[in-house]
Parts: sequence; C-alpha cells; structure tokens
Amino acid sequence: MRNKSLLSHLRVSPRTSHKASRMKKTLLLKVNPNKPEAEKVQAAAAFIKKGGLVAFPTETVYGLGADALNSKAILALFEAKKRPLDNPPIVHVESIDDVYRIAAQVPPKAEKLMREFWPGPLTLVFKHSDIVPKVTVAGLDTIAIRMPQHNVALALIRESSCPIAAPSANLAGKPSPTSAKHVLDDLNGRIDALLDGGSTCIGVESTVLDMSVNPPMVLRPGGTPFEALQKAVGDVKLHPFVVAEEELPVGAARSPGMRHRHYAPDAKMLLVEGSVAAVTAKVKELIASYRLEACKVGVLATDETITQYNADVVKSLGSRFNLAVIAQNLFRLLREFDAETIDVVIAEGVPAEGLGLAIMNRLRKASAYNIIRAE
Ligand code: TXA
Ligand code: MG
Repeated sequence: MRNKSLLSHLRVSPRTSHKASRMKKTLLLKVNPNKPEAEKVQAAAAFIKKGGLVAFPTETVYGLGADALNSKAILALFEAKKRPLDNPPIVHVESIDDVYRIAAQVPPKAEKLMREFWPGPLTLVFKHSDIVPKVTVAGLDTIAIRMPQHNVALALIRESSCPIAAPSANLAGKPSPTSAKHVLDDLNGRIDALLDGGSTCIGVESTVLDMSVNPPMVLRPGGTPFEALQKAVGDVKLHPFVVAEEELPVGAARSPGMRHRHYAPDAKMLLVEGSVAAVTAKVKELIASYRLEACKVGVLATDETITQYNADVVKSLGSRFNLAVIAQNLFRLLREFDAETIDVVIAEGVPAEGLGLAIMNRLRKASAYNIIRAE
C-alpha cells in the first residue's frame, strides 16, 4: 500500500449515536455468580414480569432480557439497543421442556444436541409455535433458542416464569459486553436493571445452528466448536457467511444478524492473516507506513509477538496456544481501543479452528473485511 491514501483504502465502520430517547434509572444488582441471592433475582424478575428490561450475565456474553411472549417488552428491547426490528433475539429457556412450548418442530438430531450441549453456548433454530409474538421472531417462521450455562441466567428465567428473549446487552453495532461495566457504558439509563455477576467466561457468543434445514447449518460460529457438532450429529454445514473473507451480498444471508454490521470498533481496523512469521513482518511494515502518515496506530497482538511491535498502543489478546483466553479478551480489547484515540487498529489473525473460527469471524467483521494476507 502506498502511504498517501492509506486510510482511504479502509471502509469506515458506522459510529453509534448514544443519544438516549427516554432515560430511566438503571438498578444495579451485584450478585454472586455461582449462588445468586434470591432477593436480587426476585427484584430483577419483577421487572421482567412487568414488561421491563434486565441485563444479566451468561457464560458467553451479557444478555439484555425481556419476556419473550410480551410484544411490548420486546419492542422496548429493540428500542433500548437501537437494534433494527428485522434482527430477532435469541430466546433463553431454563429447561428442555420449555422448548416444546415455543418450538413447533424439534427433530431427533436437535434432541441429541440439547442433551449433549445444554446448558451451554449453543443456540438452535426451529420452526416456532403459535404462542410466540411476531415481533419476537421478526416475522420469521423460525425461532432461535438456547439454555445458558450460568446460574444467574437460569435463576432469572425460572423466577420470571417465562422464556427470556435476550440479545447481547450492547448498543447495536458495538462489541458484545463481557462485563457489567460494558453493559453500563452502552445502556445505563436505557434499561431497568443489571445483574452484575462479574466477567463472562467464554467471551464470544453462542454458536447458532439452524435445525430447520437438513443437514443442520451453522449460521454463526461461537462458543460450541463446529468440530464438536460434527462429532455429535455427523453432517453439519457451515453457512458461507460464517467463513467469509470478504463482504458477501446480503441476499445470501440466512440469519438476519448476518446482514448487519457487528463488532465495529470506532477506529478503522485491518486484519492480517497468515503464518506467525509472515504476520509479524507485515504488521511491522504497516506500523511503519502508518506512522509516516502521522497516524496513531494500535496493534492487537498476541503474547508471542507483542514485544516486537513499536506502535502507539499495543495490547495482547493472550497466547496463540490458548484460544479460550483470546476469546475471553477479544471484545474487551476492542472496547478498550475505542477508549483510545487511535486512527487505525492492526489485528493479528489466528488459525480458524475450534474457537478460532468464532474469533476469526468476529475479527473479520470488526475489520469490515479489510483483510491483508501476509505471505
Ligand atoms: O451467546 C449468545 O448467543 C448471546 C447471549 C446473551 O445468549 N446472545 C446473542 O444474541 O448473541 P444476539 O441477539 O446478539 O444474536 C442473535 C443472533 C443474531 O445473529 C440473529 O440474527 C440470530 O441469532 N437469530 C435470531 N433468531 C434467528 C432465527 N429465527 N433464524 C436465524 N437466525 C436467528
Ligand atoms: Mg449481538
């Protein structure tokens, strides 16, 4: 790349306006993540029962919950997040029995997956039953359902006596929140309550698997590795959007979320993919050329490479040999870069295997597919 128009090569990610429409006091409830205090869960559930909005931790990221069967509550949920109405939330349940109330067809393969992977970071898409309001599923004939593996989430659903629709508790377009602080940064004054159960442990969202088609198809890679799903049910497909290395035409989207820009940091972002040696050399070269242009450069590095970079801000995602830690840190670091006045963030890619598939999917989206292949 030539120096002159380096920044003009990048597509700009949209900035989200923080102007709140109606402010309310957000009740902060600090809870024990393993044994949540009954009175705090009851206080939070009281909001859900009245059609209110409560953010809570799951094992993946924080969710923003509302009664999935209450259309007004769901509309308020979309408004609080500034989420487009055509992108339905995932509905959270606390037992497999609950699935049969809201799903119309549950194939045998799905029963096997629920037994094996629930509670856990796997969302299954089914045809929905008649009791589900249109707005909860954005007018689709399917519904996305999961049982989270977090005692606070399970207690809240149980106490609320309803399935809880919960998209990630961030403003639309921002990285998903992995701590209560991230939720407050985006939604303080826009929601009724927040159950603060500390940092989430997986750090990327659940895997979304469409069971309404045969063979089942992964619509979003996430906390449950693709390889584990293949092992459990054999033939599983990856939707082309999942592994896309460039922006695909929106007509090809099967999940509404695929059409929307996600995980976009405020700064422009470049993702460098390839072998570690080639990536390191390329990142150094890019730092040098951006600095010649007087750009403030940030690098999203790894433990093995961090000492090699001389940029304005350098942060490590963790060791390349521990993708679980990289997943845990990813969204927090993207948010931290937002807090710095950086012109461009250069991120290193990791192998797209196991959790790496979800990590790379998020990094590619965050970079708006500004991907550089290092050879
Ligand atoms: O880990 C997670 O899944 C977190 C926590 C809070 O559970 N939730 C989450 O929700 O990430 P959200 O709303 O941010 O992402 C839901 C994804 C979106 O990409 C949406 O388009 C897709 O699931 N989805 C929802 N309903 C669907 C449906 N009926 N068919 C296909 N995709 C659907
Ligand atoms: Mg989300």
